Amino acid sequence: MLQTGKIIKEFTSKSGKQITIRYPRWEDLDGMLKNINALARENTFIAVSEEKTKEEEMDFLCDTLKKMEKNDEVFLVVESEGKLVGSTGVTRETAHARSRHVGDIGIVVLKEFRGDGIGQEMLLTILEQAKNVLNLTLVQLTVFGVNDVAKSLYSKLGFIHAGTIPGALLYKEQFIDHDMMYKKL
Ligand SMILES: CC(C)(COP(=O)(O)OP(=O)(O)OC[C@H]1O[C@@H](n2cnc3c(N)ncnc32)[C@H](O)[C@@H]1OP(=O)(O)O)[C@@H](O)C(=O)NCCC(=O)NCCS
Repeated sequence: MLQTGKIIKEFTSKSGKQITIRYPRWEDLDGMLKNINALARENTFIAVSEEKTKEEEMDFLCDTLKKMEKNDEVFLVVESEGKLVGSTGVTRETAHARSRHVGDIGIVVLKEFRGDGIGQEMLLTILEQAKNVLNLTLVQLTVFGVNDVAKSLYSKLGFIHAGTIPGALLYKEQFIDHDMMYKKL
C-alpha cells in the first residue's frame, strides 16, 4: 500500500534551507501545477513547453500514484518551508518484459532554488529508490545537449554518455542535440 506523503529524506541545503524529499499526495496538485507552469514559462531544458491545465495535471498525478501503487514508478516532491520547489522521478520501462529492469529518470528544480545542492540530493535519493524500491539495475535519461549544468551533475554521479542524436530537439527555433546517458545500479 502506497504511503502518500511519506518522508524519504530531510537535509539542509548549502545556503541553509530546510529541505524535505517525500512521496506525493493529492494535496500537492496545486503546487505541482504551479511549478510545471513556471518551468514551461521559463522555457527551460525539459520536454514540457506549454502550460498545463488543472485537469491535465490531475491526470498526471493520478497516473503517477497508480504506477507507484504497482511498484512501476517512484515520484518524489521536494518541499522547502511548505512550498514545493522541485520533483524527480524514475519510471520502469513496462512496455516489454525484456526492459523491466530499466528505469527512466527525470528531475527539475525551480529556478530560484537551483545551485544550492538540492538537485544533487534529489538525484542521489531517486537513484537509491530506483535500486532498492523498484529493484532496477539500470537507469537512463535524455538531456538537452546544451544543458551543461545537468550533464555535469549526471557525470558527477556516475552517469555515462551513451550517445547523441544530432538535431533531435526543436528549442528556441533551432534544432539542437539530444544526449543519452545511463548508469548501472
Ligand atoms: C539540472 C538541475 C536539476 C540541477 O539541480 P541544482 O539544484 O541546480 O543542482 P545542484 O545545486 O545540486 O548542483 C549539482 C551539480 O550540478 C552542477 N551545477 C550546478 N549548478 C551549476 C552551474 N551554475 N554551472 C555548472 N554546473 C552546475 C555541478 O556539477 C554541481 O555540483 P557542484 O556543486 O559540486 O559543482 C536544475 O538545474 C534544473 O532543474 N534545471 C532546469 C531543468 C533541467 O534542466 N532538468 C534536467 C533535465 S535533463
